[in-house]
Amino acid sequence: MPDDRAAPDGTGRTAPVLSEGERLQKVMAAAGLGSRRTCEDLIAGGHVTVNGDVARLGRRIDPEADVVAVDGVPVGLRAGRVHYLLNKPAGVVTTADDPQGRATVVELVPDEPRVFPVGRLDLDTEGLLLLTNDGQLTHRLTHPSFGVDKEYVAHVEGTPTRAAIRQLREGVELEDGRTAPAQASLVAPSIIKLVIHEGRNRQVRRMCEAIGHPVSRLVRTRIGPLSDRRLKPGTWRELTNDEVRALERAAGPRPDQG
Ligand code: URA
Repeated sequence: MPDDRAAPDGTGRTAPVLSEGERLQKVMAAAGLGSRRTCEDLIAGGHVTVNGDVARLGRRIDPEADVVAVDGVPVGLRAGRVHYLLNKPAGVVTTADDPQGRATVVELVPDEPRVFPVGRLDLDTEGLLLLTNDGQLTHRLTHPSFGVDKEYVAHVEGTPTRAAIRQLREGVELEDGRTAPAQASLVAPSIIKLVIHEGRNRQVRRMCEAIGHPVSRLVRTRIGPLSDRRLKPGTWRELTNDEVRALERAAGPRPDQG
C-alpha cells in the first residue's frame, strides 16, 4: 500500500512522505517512547516533528539521519542500543555462556544491557570483537552476502614465499571450497597481513595451513571501518556515533529500507 494515505496533520501543512526508510511510529517505539499505538497518537496529534516539519501518519524516516522531536524536544532514536569494541585476549571463548565454565567475552563487558558477540573469534585468537544488543545490525554484519572486510595479522611458522602469499590472494582450496580473493602481504619474515570478507570457521588458520605455514598467533586488527591500536587486551570501549554510522554503512541497508 502506498504511503500517501497519510492523515492530515491538523496544521494544513503537508510534509513529504518517503517510500523508503522505517515507519516513524516503529522507530519511536523502538526508542522507548511508548507503544506503537501511543506513538501513532502522538504523530496524529501533531506533536511530532521530523527535521522541524510536523510529521503525519505514514511518515517514514531514516533513523540515522533524521531528527525527530516530540513537542519540540529532540529524541534519541538510538536509545537503548549499545555497541562495544573489545580487544579479546587469547583463552576467552566467544559465546554468551560456556557450558565448560571457561571465561567468556561477555564477562569482559558490562552486564546490562545484555549484549552478544558479532561473529566469532577462536579461543586462541586475539583482537577486535564487536558486541551489541542490536540484533538486526548483527544479522547484517554476519550474513554471508554482506561480509564486511576483516583484517588479521597472522604469525606463522617459517617464511612464506611470494608465491605462497600470491596463493592466499588468489584463493586456496579448503575442504569447504576455494576461498575468495583476499588481500595478503608479508609484513615481516613470519608475519602475514590478511584481509578477508568471508567468515568461515577458522578460515585464516586453515588458509595459512594450506600454504604450508601454520599459524602460531592470530590477531584481528580491523572489522570493516573499525580499528583501534590503543585498546589494550581485555579492555573495551563504546563505539562513537560516527563509528556506528560507518558500520551501518558498511553493513548495507537495513532490510526494511529496501
Ligand atoms: N580466522 C581464524 O582462523 N580464526 C579466527 O578466530 C578468525 C578468523
